[in-house]
Amino acid sequence: MTLILGIETSCDETAAAVVADGRRLLSNVVATQIDLHRKYGGVFPEMASRQHVLAIMPVVREAVAQAEIGWDHLDAIAVTQGPGLAGSLLVGVNAAKGIAWANGLPLLPVNHLEGHVYSNWIEAPGNRAEKAFPLLILIVSGGHTELVAMVDHAEYRRLGGTIDDAAGEAFDKVARLLGLGYPGGPAVQRAAANGDAAAYDLPRAWLPGTHDFSFSGLKTAVLRLVAQEEGSVADDGRKLTPSHGLDDQVVADLAASFQQAVVDVLVDKSIAAAEEIGATEICVCGGVSANAALRRTFAERSPLPLSIPPLYLCTDNAAMIAAAAYYRHALHHTPASDFGIDIKANFVLA
Ligand code: KG4
Ligand code: ZN
Repeated sequence: MTLILGIETSCDETAAAVVADGRRLLSNVVATQIDLHRKYGGVFPEMASRQHVLAIMPVVREAVAQAEIGWDHLDAIAVTQGPGLAGSLLVGVNAAKGIAWANGLPLLPVNHLEGHVYSNWIEAPGNRAEKAFPLLILIVSGGHTELVAMVDHAEYRRLGGTIDDAAGEAFDKVARLLGLGYPGGPAVQRAAANGDAAAYDLPRAWLPGTHDFSFSGLKTAVLRLVAQEEGSVADDGRKLTPSHGLDDQVVADLAASFQQAVVDVLVDKSIAAAEEIGATEICVCGGVSANAALRRTFAERSPLPLSIPPLYLCTDNAAMIAAAAYYRHALHHTPASDFGIDIKANFVLA
């Protein structure tokens, strides 16, 4: 049995987890900074790195304690090397170096996006156990929206991705426009629950002939409707003041219509890509895969088996980092990294 301690600090969650053989969760600790960043309406990078400095050792100790193993049972330390916020990544990488050095263990650097991919391998409800390549992977997070053909373990062919905003970024921006606060995805989902998804006819950027996405036009369309509904812009585009604010039902309808526009494009383009590459299964991962409408729509429309992790593995966590390290390094006997590694803030998956 290979026991890997994973460490993740790429954005606003300080996380550590112990995973056995890349699949079995022994512990999964996540300290979120949501309350800290809420008053800024988004992640404040310097605050994030300082909070990681405070949280990292207690979180790591808790993960080892919850796993009910001794430090001497660990086989390796895995850590997110990128992509992410530089100051945040540095905290995790330096902590991992120290822990690996002190315990005489190999240091395994992991791409955060590969971590999201391997969240689909962890034994949990929603994840399919037996997988046969090729797989179609949709990564939808705050910073990325990528369609990838996975042809073997740790081998990817990028099919396409967003040419402007990531799906999660669009949720976060639209939440702000609608006055729903941070983090945007869950807030939009909550508001949308009381809304009519057909209330507004919002644009869907299909970008035919490509596996790419675009969400900035959709965001602008919402912005225009908000201004109209607030009464700060006339139908002919003339600016009017003052704004009278948005009615709760209008917010709910806009949230539901926006959410469905994003979901339609993500689901239908993933299914088309899966059919094109002859995928045996569609694996969805990243923070936006926590979205209930996305999960429901995939289940309704996908002709292929689906793997979508439970919510605690969709958003950032360290279990996925330990799992990815197992498949990339331990299984393939890739040599561990030396202690001279730097972070890779713009690390690409493929
Ligand atoms: O993967 P993740 O935790 O961090 C990154 O790697 O970016 O993804 C965070 C993103 C945020 O944009 C957040 O608004 C979005 O995932 N998100 C959701 C939901 N939960 C989180 N978006 C839509 N619906 C949700 N329920
Ligand atoms: Zn992430």
